[in-house]
Amino acid sequence: MKPIPFFDHRLMHDAISDELKGAFAEFLSGDMLILGDQVTAFEKEFGAYQSSAYAAGVNSGLDALILSLKALGIGAGDEVIVPANTYIATWNAIHLVGAIPVPVEPDVTTMNIHIDNILPAIKKRTKAIMPVHLYGLPCQMSHIMNVADAHDLYVIEDNAQAVGASVNGKKTGTWGYINATSFYPTKNLGALGDGGMVTSDDADLIARVKSLRNYGSAKRYVSKEIGLNSRLDELQAAMLRIKLRKLDLWLAERKQVAKQYLEGLKDVSEITLPVDDPNHTYHLFVIRCDDRDALAAHLDKQGISTLVHYPIPPHLQEAYRFLKYAPGSFPITESIANTCLSLPLYYGFKRADEVIEAIRGYYK
Ligand SMILES: Cc1ncc(COP(=O)(O)O)c(C=O)c1O
Repeated sequence: MKPIPFFDHRLMHDAISDELKGAFAEFLSGDMLILGDQVTAFEKEFGAYQSSAYAAGVNSGLDALILSLKALGIGAGDEVIVPANTYIATWNAIHLVGAIPVPVEPDVTTMNIHIDNILPAIKKRTKAIMPVHLYGLPCQMSHIMNVADAHDLYVIEDNAQAVGASVNGKKTGTWGYINATSFYPTKNLGALGDGGMVTSDDADLIARVKSLRNYGSAKRYVSKEIGLNSRLDELQAAMLRIKLRKLDLWLAERKQVAKQYLEGLKDVSEITLPVDDPNHTYHLFVIRCDDRDALAAHLDKQGISTLVHYPIPPHLQEAYRFLKYAPGSFPITESIANTCLSLPLYYGFKRADEVIEAIRGYYK
């Protein structure tokens, strides 16, 4: 059997190669290589797609989070409520601005932050809640916004994994006061390298992000504050403009593959499937099972690549040892880390039936 990779960017890029090459030619003939027309146009188009008034292209999803926090003035000694069950980038952004990540357990069914766990974590120094729409499934945003409003907290959505998703007709990444996304190549909207975006309806905040992404200078060689170099490349913006036009179509195709998995595995009692929610974008199709490592090894033997998102939760990473969490601190998160397995799912992927058959064969 021909191996099934976990991700193959070529299927997507082959399908739009003429358009990408055309955009590259346009980029080459343009005046600017950094912060030019392509970035400006993409910020406008992405903002319109999201129904966000303002957008600032940056270098990565991590930087988008860092710059969102900085623009809000969140820093030393402030606490930010964050999912225990997330990719480490969410925590890192908080730590890197000098604030403290305050983790809370997820809902075991959705694997997203559990709203009931947010309230007890709110303390005097809490400044913000940073929900993550993990694996592409939106969090319960109306509830989160109500809690935040009642306690005068900012909400910063980490929308890295859920671009294109909506809750009650409102896009994820537009609920929070300021929101961050990633264009890492495997994401729903992936660049040909790194990239990210900050969006908000607050013009001043986005102006501050635009200054902070460029050494803290809104005017050339005049720095009002200490900023980073975190500009979205013109070239990436040009490529992302092409891809944004296809995003809804690609998300619909992604859902079709997810449906195939959900249908083909629904009676395998050893497996817990992701929730079948019409708002899910299935950035990752994550199943759970007790014998995860054995199943992954079985699939690997048949040439089917899988991944684990994520095998070690942030609180058990060596990097966060100083926060003094131990195994058992967040048992739901730890149990997800020990049982989750992501199946291949990407644009142009047509071999879900083979993956289903291999999983069913393992449990027969
Ligand atoms: C939930 C989450 N937040 C933030 C990031 C950071 O994005 P990037 O890799 O573009 O820095 C990622 C992606 O890797 C992510 O999955």
